[in-house]
Amino acid sequence: TPAPVKTNFTAGAEGDKDHSCRILDILVGLFEQSIRKAFPGDTTLPVLVVPARQADYQCNSAMPIAQKLSATTGKKIAPTEVAKIIVENLPKHDMIEKIDYSGPGFINVTISPSFVSKQIRDILTKGVLPPNILTMVGKLGSNGENKRPKVVIDFSSPNIAKEMHVGHLRSTIIGDSIARLLEYTGFDVLRLNHLGDWGTQFGMLIAHLQDEFPEYKTVSPPIGDLLAFYKASKKRFDEDEEFKKRAYECVVNLQAYDPDIIHAWKMICDVSRKDFEYIYKELDVKITDRGESFYQDRMVDLVKELDSKNLLKLEDGRKLMFLPDIDVPMTIVKTDGGFTYDSSDMATIKQRLQEEKADWIVYVIDSGQALHMQSIFAGAKLAGWTEENSARIDHVGFGVVLGEDGKKLKTRSGEAVRLRELLDEGIERSLAKLKEKNRDTVLTPEELQKAQKSVAYGCIKYSDLSRNRNFDYIFSFDRMLDDRGNTAVYLLYAYTRIQSIARKAGIAPETLKAKMQDVELDFANEEQELKLAKCIIRYPDVFTRALDELLMNGLCEFMYQLATAFTEFYDRCYCVEVDKVTGESRINYRRILLCEATATVLKQCFEILGIQPLERM
Ligand code: ARG
Repeated sequence: TPAPVKTNFTAGAEGDKDHSCRILDILVGLFEQSIRKAFPGDTTLPVLVVPARQADYQCNSAMPIAQKLSATTGKKIAPTEVAKIIVENLPKHDMIEKIDYSGPGFINVTISPSFVSKQIRDILTKGVLPPNILTMVGKLGSNGENKRPKVVIDFSSPNIAKEMHVGHLRSTIIGDSIARLLEYTGFDVLRLNHLGDWGTQFGMLIAHLQDEFPEYKTVSPPIGDLLAFYKASKKRFDEDEEFKKRAYECVVNLQAYDPDIIHAWKMICDVSRKDFEYIYKELDVKITDRGESFYQDRMVDLVKELDSKNLLKLEDGRKLMFLPDIDVPMTIVKTDGGFTYDSSDMATIKQRLQEEKADWIVYVIDSGQALHMQSIFAGAKLAGWTEENSARIDHVGFGVVLGEDGKKLKTRSGEAVRLRELLDEGIERSLAKLKEKNRDTVLTPEELQKAQKSVAYGCIKYSDLSRNRNFDYIFSFDRMLDDRGNTAVYLLYAYTRIQSIARKAGIAPETLKAKMQDVELDFANEEQELKLAKCIIRYPDVFTRALDELLMNGLCEFMYQLATAFTEFYDRCYCVEVDKVTGESRINYRRILLCEATATVLKQCFEILGIQPLERM
């Protein structure tokens, strides 16, 4: 069996002609070598390297190593002593300008300005190259020689006939941005919408449809407001035993592919799909529909396979699958012979491992379903599928969306918030914000409309992605539309401002292109320039980390730091200087190019988050 997929940061960190260089990961590699060489007895000694405030990077390993060594050998050794030994054994690297010490054994690393210049030049001339993932993922080429590793990502996944709600919005936003990051770094990504299109709800919907619109086979029924239709059928289902029985029969007939029932089913699905498509179009999200219905035949086969492997236990007419270390078994077949959410997800994971031959499978589903996902992963292992394909498998969970009162987000009248109304409110509010800043007097109507969408959806996305997804989050238009602080509006303005600098200085794009090749890029004489440059070139490490943890808040934090470093630079350093004596203005191309590099990297970040940056705003 192939080795398990694992993220190996240090391999490929140097970058090459198609990939950017990951400074932090190079340093981790160097310190790892040093620590293993200096203390060969214990390979578990920690290698801790982080970006630091005072210096550029800091290694904090000396303290925990000193503690561990003192404890195991019984001889006291000081952290400062350990730090010295680590540095003595550190391999040379032209990226490192200088090393010094602070506090109890902290090792500070300063990056060399000439190395910084080279990285900035690369960004200007080659663009924002992605980090090298081919060395990040251990098990490559398993789905065919020289193929890009394949990722299946399951996200959004609303339920037909039920309203797409804020939980689905989170899944949509988080999933889309992970998919964008994966695509940018070169994975072969299959984006799947696991629509709830096959459950018991269809029994009652179809039975109700047959009663209300008996001529549905020839005339298309007016069920535009599918939610109201759903509610009416649910009411009957709960109150009327006779109806309930018929609804169940409909489900059985649906799963047996009865043509009339399938016709009604298709009609209902199409109505829902139109609503969903509107949301995806507005949010610029691409996704392939592959709902639960896709797995019907596979669920039949699944039961056969699990039965033949003796993994199902008959209890009160149900077929259960018990799992090691998990108390609750999965229900694979119900008493009436129907399938469940468990059976459909056992089918998804099998299909993705065996048919899609995925190297990596990602499920973006709220954390409330964590136990379900754990069960599915344990079930796949028990069935032996992960032994044949040891893909990396992640449940990307997230917390619930809260209103400003700290309770589950509701409308004023206490109902669940409809997604479409939420987006509409964002659009309205963003226009108000732009008018408040008098943008309507500066921009053309088209530009204003573009800005309105970009701000509205950008804010909704960014306020979600900038927080650690594992926690609940408070949805507040007021906060997300604030143009100070870590918000999309602030970043969008910053980007537009940076973009306009060269334009306002009257520099032609061709001139700028030429300057990128030959202007001397020595930032060492100006503290703010060097600081900004060092911030810019951290992006490959930030992207790599986001990829490994599937967390976007670090990337958002980076964008904010970049914008802040830019502001500090721009306040201090003039890009166009006017000669006091002659009154002539002189363009400082080194600084202009630093603006360009900042904008290019910011733009790539926006792209990954699914936010549309603007040239004018
Ligand atoms: N339709 C489900 C819900 O609304 C989410 C499905 C997520 N994907 C999956 N493979 N289970 O909760």
